Amino acid sequence: MYGLVNRAIQQMVTSRHGEDVWQRIKEKADLADLDFFSTYQAYPDDVTHRLVAAASEELELSAAEIMHAFGEYWITYTASEGYEQLLESTGETLPEFLDHLDTLHARAGLAFPQLQPPSFRCRHGGDRTIDLEYHSHRRGLAPMVVGLLQGLGRRFRTDVQVEQTAARDRGDGEDLFHIRYAESTPPS
Ligand code: HEM
Repeated sequence: MYGLVNRAIQQMVTSRHGEDVWQRIKEKADLADLDFFSTYQAYPDDVTHRLVAAASEELELSAAEIMHAFGEYWITYTASEGYEQLLESTGETLPEFLDHLDTLHARAGLAFPQLQPPSFRCRHGGDRTIDLEYHSHRRGLAPMVVGLLQGLGRRFRTDVQVEQTAARDRGDGEDLFHIRYAESTPPS
């Protein structure tokens, strides 16, 4: 995945746990020789997986917990790294935003030409519910999607409850998330 992703993991770890912890994670991931990740360089997915596995060991959290925290972090990280406008133009409400996730990644693809983005499809229920399909050629990232949805809930000041109702890792044909969201609270 692009360096932007690995940099975000680095920033999440250093801001929450400090530089020493990050250095130990880098070593455990066999990346001690790497000085920094370049935002616009595409790294093998294995690099990201090794970082998550090493962080999981070092922080004594499951890989799913790390991915969940990372998904939530990604929303504020991308906003602070120059993509706030892209986020803004994707939707003014949570359901509108979720309808346009593929457009968001298509636009991001202009800056990241080798992007291999996920794809999402929404089915809206009448009672503030959405069933969200998630498609990716990668495996194991569903916990990140739950974190992303929580992060979006925070961005839109909306209480969000997410339940994964189908999972490729459990043998289902797709990853499916049932989302319940409350009305947004206006900024104070
Ligand atoms: C402006 C904000 C965003 C930018 C710039 C962005 C960009 C990216 C980039 C560069 C990757 C790595 C993929 C690769 O290198 O091939 C990625 C992956 C991913 N993005 Fe986004 N993204 C943004 C927002 C979002 C949001 C709001 C979601 C919410 C669902 C999302 C869901 C994902 C997921 C799940 C992946 C993991 C890759 C996979 O599933 O195969 N992204 N994105």
